[in-house]
Amino acid sequence: MQYRQLGSSNLVVSEIALGSWLTYGGGVEKERAAACVARAFELGINFIDTANIYGHGAAETVLGEVLAGRPRESYVLATKLFFPMTDSDRGLSRHQIVKQIDASLRRLRTDYVDLYQCHRYDRETPLEETMRAMTDVVAQGKARYIGFSEWPAAKIEAAVAMAGVEKFVSSQPQYSLLWRKPEAAVFPACRANGIGQIVWSPLAQGVLTGKYRPDAPAPADSRAASPSMGAFLVDAWRSRPVLEAVQQLAPLAAAAGLTMAQFALAWVLRGTDVASAIIGATGPEQVSENALASGHPVDPALFAAAERILAPFAAF
Ligand SMILES: NC(=O)c1ccc[n+]([C@@H]2O[C@H](COP(=O)([O-])OP(=O)(O)OC[C@H]3O[C@@H](n4cnc5c(N)ncnc54)[C@H](OP(=O)(O)O)[C@@H]3O)[C@@H](O)[C@H]2O)c1
Repeated sequence: MQYRQLGSSNLVVSEIALGSWLTYGGGVEKERAAACVARAFELGINFIDTANIYGHGAAETVLGEVLAGRPRESYVLATKLFFPMTDSDRGLSRHQIVKQIDASLRRLRTDYVDLYQCHRYDRETPLEETMRAMTDVVAQGKARYIGFSEWPAAKIEAAVAMAGVEKFVSSQPQYSLLWRKPEAAVFPACRANGIGQIVWSPLAQGVLTGKYRPDAPAPADSRAASPSMGAFLVDAWRSRPVLEAVQQLAPLAAAAGLTMAQFALAWVLRGTDVASAIIGATGPEQVSENALASGHPVDPALFAAAERILAPFAAF
């Protein structure tokens, strides 16, 4: 496993991170979740991503249990807030930040998270209120650093320009060969300001592994076939033209000596913008396969060919 520094922080994160959306505390039973986390540590993955909203606290609770026996300083733990936990608990007001960090720490059974992230931009709270409250969370030692997920570039710039507040060190956008939107404005805004990318759905929720065939139903054990986990899968990615195009990546991955999943992960890690690719995994064998994407050099011509094949279907 290779490691990268996260933005201007002192955090050194594994190129592959383990996430917990839909899976742990959700569609994946606890023993399997524990096996995934154990495999991740065995392979040098030191970065775990969660959020209060995942399973409405259930993902943090499972991770708290599973991580309890490990030295706290041996891993980098990230969580988030913003989405509604109850009818009245939502957003990034000072009141919510104070309340949600304590609830997350309780579930995670720890005194601090390494990274506390604003899960979305909150248009109903003044930015300054959010930034001052996040700054206080760091001052109190409850978080070491702060980040955001899916903020518009203009709001990133506004936060960076604010004096006397903690600086963001991370950005968590969706990014994959099928979702390239952050390349246009978010990556440049972050690059200029010491903010690293930790990207979600780098496998397009499994579509880029090639396991969804144009002529076959979704595998029974896949996210697409799962009533609880499949609801968020982008419909267009299951269409015949996209699935046929994805299959054309198979020989490119083989030429690189990688599986399709590894090739897709190596692609998001190809430059210096992305510090870590946050994978979801429903079993330890997926963690093992995906971890091997790190530190494997790939001929840029193979990546360029993959980009050409998927460009007609990718979001820019
Ligand atoms: N900030 C945000 O708004 C946001 C949003 C979404 C996610 N996230 C974070 O990003 C993490 C990753 O998101 P994601 O789960 O969508 O990522 P992903 O890695 O693109 O997709 C993960 C899914 O793909 C399948 N898969 C993974 N490796 C595979 C392999 N080697 N072979 C075959 N199938 C494989 C698994 O599903 P099946 O086995 O079930 O098919 C797995 O659960 C989340 O856990 C969360 O921490 C953040």
